[in-house]
Amino acid sequence: MSKLNIVILAAGLGKRMHSALPKVLHPLAGKPLLAHVLGAARALSPQQICVVYGHGGEAVPKAVDGEGLICVRQEPQLGTGHALMQALPHLDEEGATLVLYGDVPLTSIETLKKLISTAAGETFALLTVELTNPSGYGRIVRNDRGAVIAIVEEKDATESQRKIREINTGIMVIPNRYLPGWLHKLENNNAQKEYYLTDVVAMAVRDGITIEATQPAHDWETTGVNSKAQLADLERIYQGEYARKLLEQGVTLADPSRIDIRGQLSCGRDVTIDVGCIFEGDVQLGDRVRVGAYTILKDATVEAGSAIAPFSLIEAAEIGKDCRIGPYARIRPGTRLDDEVHIGNFVEVKNSAIAAGSKANHLSYIGDAVIGRRVNIGAGTITCNYDGANKHQTIIEDNVFVGSDTQLVAPVKVTQGSTIGAGSTITRDTPPETLTLSRAKQMSIEGWKRPVKKPKS
Ligand code: UD1
Ligand code: CA
Repeated sequence: MSKLNIVILAAGLGKRMHSALPKVLHPLAGKPLLAHVLGAARALSPQQICVVYGHGGEAVPKAVDGEGLICVRQEPQLGTGHALMQALPHLDEEGATLVLYGDVPLTSIETLKKLISTAAGETFALLTVELTNPSGYGRIVRNDRGAVIAIVEEKDATESQRKIREINTGIMVIPNRYLPGWLHKLENNNAQKEYYLTDVVAMAVRDGITIEATQPAHDWETTGVNSKAQLADLERIYQGEYARKLLEQGVTLADPSRIDIRGQLSCGRDVTIDVGCIFEGDVQLGDRVRVGAYTILKDATVEAGSAIAPFSLIEAAEIGKDCRIGPYARIRPGTRLDDEVHIGNFVEVKNSAIAAGSKANHLSYIGDAVIGRRVNIGAGTITCNYDGANKHQTIIEDNVFVGSDTQLVAPVKVTQGSTIGAGSTITRDTPPETLTLSRAKQMSIEGWKRPVKKPKS
């Protein structure tokens, strides 16, 4: 193939989505439908990609902005042929144009490559599928020798044409040399009063151009989204396929139908993932990592041998080797845990570095802190990092023991080897290898009486 142009049709209304958001911007696996189509388009390294938008106005070009695309507006929307016509000024004179739909998100790159390769020379390539229920789609009309001669829209089809089960997916490769002539000849004297792109097939046949039809590996590769129900169906197919790939790589999934990946998940050997986990953005799990049920990981790295217990939430963080996290841990952006760190239940860590072998096992908030090695953070310890206006740092050096229910009022430094007695509020730096306490002395009052309820009068 000499020059490849790609036009993505995305001007349709999407009325059945019942949403203010343009249809092609509804997310599948965490990113807009249109972004899936653009991803496949880019993988084909075309000369250019042109997106035809209309309904939803500028929201569509804005969502795909700055990615070196040509966006053209189709206003009003007079059909798929009229849509392609809007892109015509941006297409090369030679080569071919691949037409994709912005609401058909799961076409594989292999299928598109196969389609493009059949369009070598001046062949017109169509992607078609056979459906048990073809209703609603354009039908592929073949002559008695089996050659494609036309596409007829359902609303314009005769009784016998409606029985044809081979349908037009809408994805096609058209030789550029003929495209302007054919598009300018389109008429809208049909049931929908639209300029049908599908009518160029019969024109091509008249001009002696061969039409080659190829099929995708799976029907769902060409399924479009018109409703929330169809979007949900495709989401499950996408997730099922991703889960299958992980299983093939050797990842253990407690239930491949209960995992959601909204981005990229890469796994080492012998990784185990329990049910209900969500992976967002770019997540990397090292060898033998175990992820407990209902855990959410976003843009995170977990190194070999670490275990995340159920119901943990980890975002934009790095976790070293052989760590123990959760259950119910929250690790927030900017956190780096070195090897063998333990973060237990109801512990929140934000923008902090914790060195090897340190532990915070229960009910704590660690924010803007730098914590050394082998530190023990007692239950209920809080770094008071915010004074109402600014954030301040807490430094805890190696081998520190922080007793339970301690407040560390930042900026403050707990020097190496020191011990903080439980229930202390620490406002000044502590000297090394000492015990520091800041609590009222315990006393017992003899003969003290508990208050009693007044009798009701
Ligand atoms: C179209 C095909 C039909 C095919 C079906 C597959 C035509 C005439 N018919 O029908 O043969 O079986 O797709 O789903 O091509 N669009 C625009 N501007 C417009 C109209 C549509 O950009 O003026 C875009 C839509 O956003 C969508 C795509 O083109 O991405 C298809 O439009 P849609 O209305 O779904 O086409 P159908 O009538 O279903
Ligand atoms: Ca459609």
